Amino acid sequence: MNAFMQDKVISGFSKMDKQAKIEWLRQYFLDDDPAVQEQLASFWHQDEDLQRVLDGFSENTLSNFPMPFGIAPNFKINGEMYAIPMVIEESSVVAAAASAAKFWLPLGGFHTEVVDTVKLGQLHFRWAGSTARWESLFADLEKMLRLETTHLTANMEKRGGGIREIKWLRKPEIGPDYYQLLVSFQTCDSMGANFINSILEQFGASLKQWAASAPELSDEERRLEIIMAILSNYTPECVVKAWVECEIADMEKTLRTGDDVRHFCHKFETAVNIARHDPYRAVTHNKGIFNGIDAVVLATANDFRAIEACGHAYAARDGQYRSLSSCTITEDHFRFELEIPLALGTVGGLTKLHPLAKLSLQILGQPSANELMQVIAATGLAQNFGALRSLVTTGIQAGHMKMHLQNILIHLGATPAQMEEAKAYFEEHTVSFTAVREFLDQYNTVQ
Ligand code: MEV
Repeated sequence: MNAFMQDKVISGFSKMDKQAKIEWLRQYFLDDDPAVQEQLASFWHQDEDLQRVLDGFSENTLSNFPMPFGIAPNFKINGEMYAIPMVIEESSVVAAAASAAKFWLPLGGFHTEVVDTVKLGQLHFRWAGSTARWESLFADLEKMLRLETTHLTANMEKRGGGIREIKWLRKPEIGPDYYQLLVSFQTCDSMGANFINSILEQFGASLKQWAASAPELSDEERRLEIIMAILSNYTPECVVKAWVECEIADMEKTLRTGDDVRHFCHKFETAVNIARHDPYRAVTHNKGIFNGIDAVVLATANDFRAIEACGHAYAARDGQYRSLSSCTITEDHFRFELEIPLALGTVGGLTKLHPLAKLSLQILGQPSANELMQVIAATGLAQNFGALRSLVTTGIQAGHMKMHLQNILIHLGATPAQMEEAKAYFEEHTVSFTAVREFLDQYNTVQ
């Protein structure tokens, strides 16, 4: 490493105070830019206690990174009305969700159903004994593992959750002595990551202890090595369904594209079918679903990386990546459905620590984890419906460009009066950065 690069290596960064961290960054990565301190400080929260809470969510924090917090109103889900909090930086996502919600409002709204809520974890280990021997020992071992984790499970059991099944697996393709415990859990209203990981680590410690001291084991059978203990973010049995349905003729009430409703529904169905069979389309289609899902997952301080990873694995569960939603038309009855795994929590984690996540849950009426699964699935379906509706009718650029125009106008420092004029002008003209700049130049010359 040359001296210039060496200067950029630092030890003890995490121990430095915020000021010193910024100073170091400024010096080595920002060409001594004098504005950086002020820029970062401008996003600090004025309430120092709250800023300390926010800093505590991560490490080496220099500032906060604001994202828009919006609401998609008019969601009727299982007969109840919801206003859905969404945190997202992409224009037109909230607008599309809100418009889909309004579309379905007179048609009965969204229907949802939790299929199951099983969470999973794995203990991966090597053991030198045979499968038959393991089989003969397992019933007693399972009892021991359950007993040695009662201190961890007691509270969850009081709430109706806990360890469900403990299965063991061998996978010779991983290694001749590879074993796995695949453990299922119910974690009630918490996402359950800490609960599951603590139990799995205790299982590991107990197994190790057992192998070292059980008198019935041969010397060879004492060779047990824990590889790792960790929850699985793939939860194909923590699944929720959301759907909308109506008689095609009833859509006349809400479809305002000028299109024939029957034609619209069949075109829509084809669009979904393309995503069921073509992975290039399926990824974009599902990305649209996650536009809605992630936004509510973020607003409620849930783990969007876990939700995404799991959702995409589920989309490929039969060996081909497919759309997570499906559409059927049977005798003039239109049904559009989303089936998705969502492992969520409404207690624990940051859900009550982040003030805006807390507010999101309040807006949603303090839902249980099951209710939140349903709300989020409905939002994903709405988003998907909104995107497909645009795609098979006007195309998405018309809506996107309206939002894009707003961003360009803000970027170019347009006044509210200029914005109004520009919006009217660009109803009839194509939006581009250059076109907007030219419009503003023209506007300034005329004024
Ligand atoms: C853009 O963020 C999302 C869409 O591309 C989704 C889709 O194509 O279905 C519009």
